[in-house]
Amino acid sequence: MKKIIGLLLVFVGIITFTTACGKDKINYLVIVNKQNKLPSDWEEKLELVDVKTGLDETYQVEKEAAEKFNELREALLKEGVNIELDSTYRSVKRQQEIWDEFEKEKGLAYAQKYVAVPGYSEHHTGLALDVKLVKDGKVIEDNDDMIAERDTFAKVHAKLADYGFILRYLEGKDSITGYAYEPWHLRYVGSTSVAKEIMEKGLTLEEYLNIDYSPYMGYQFSGKDPWDNLLAVTIRKIEGGKIEWTYTSSFGKDISLYHELSTDFNEGKTTFTITDKKENYSYKYTGNLVLKDNKVIITYEDGSLTTISTEGNSDSNQVKVLDNKEVSLTKVIDNN
Ligand code: DAL
Ligand code: ZN
Repeated sequence: MKKIIGLLLVFVGIITFTTACGKDKINYLVIVNKQNKLPSDWEEKLELVDVKTGLDETYQVEKEAAEKFNELREALLKEGVNIELDSTYRSVKRQQEIWDEFEKEKGLAYAQKYVAVPGYSEHHTGLALDVKLVKDGKVIEDNDDMIAERDTFAKVHAKLADYGFILRYLEGKDSITGYAYEPWHLRYVGSTSVAKEIMEKGLTLEEYLNIDYSPYMGYQFSGKDPWDNLLAVTIRKIEGGKIEWTYTSSFGKDISLYHELSTDFNEGKTTFTITDKKENYSYKYTGNLVLKDNKVIITYEDGSLTTISTEGNSDSNQVKVLDNKEVSLTKVIDNN
């Protein structure tokens, strides 16, 4: 009998412990970027808490990140730097509102540089925190105004790693992260030692995690394409000598287009297979792909031609970021 009671107690103990521990631990190193969507089980693991700011606003942040952010903020206050939360956890719906707002007010190209397509924002994780500055009683929250606050942000960035945060969108690394420099966007990575390594080496999270960002990942272009209402395209090298093109459209479709990798992305006959993962159709293109003088020229078998060029054209249906320059992708000529 004693044995049974003992066993029961152990069993009850395990149940109590499991319940007390609550949700599964989240992966603080999760990667959410233009190529990687928020994991589908993320929301059920995420534990959000309210954080009240010095401006009497309330924001939702992942529990551990919230504690560490409060510590970071206190430490900075002692140095005379006042950061306050500006945007934290965002639902996919909220991200859509932000996207629409930016596109309407600043245009598509600007939105693509600074705002993630809904479902692909790190803000969905609860681990990404945008901050604003309070200086001499004035709130500085406009993107351009914050970028101009170099000295103040240098002090903020110097302290991040001590609290497990990194700067996510580094200057000059747009071709890896897919976004322009955002001195305000902090990311909690769950470990001070990891954060220190990332910050000391000046790495992006993609580089630290050794995610294949390859030079082709710099080829991101967006806009409207001949087939769909395209928002973003990323080209990256994948295993087996292939290049994967990931498309994101405003309808939320992910279309991957594969073609055989010809020698350093140069001449060669290439076969493109476009697969719409959601609607389950695919079609093939065969053509030549040439990278020349900052232009990507694709000639299809039917003779039609697509040029991705640095020379923008007002009729262009896509915008592309190449070597940090905005360029246009235009369906130019139908060969006949
Ligand atoms: N500003 C970042 C890229 C986002 O919208 O998630
Ligand atoms: Zn952000």
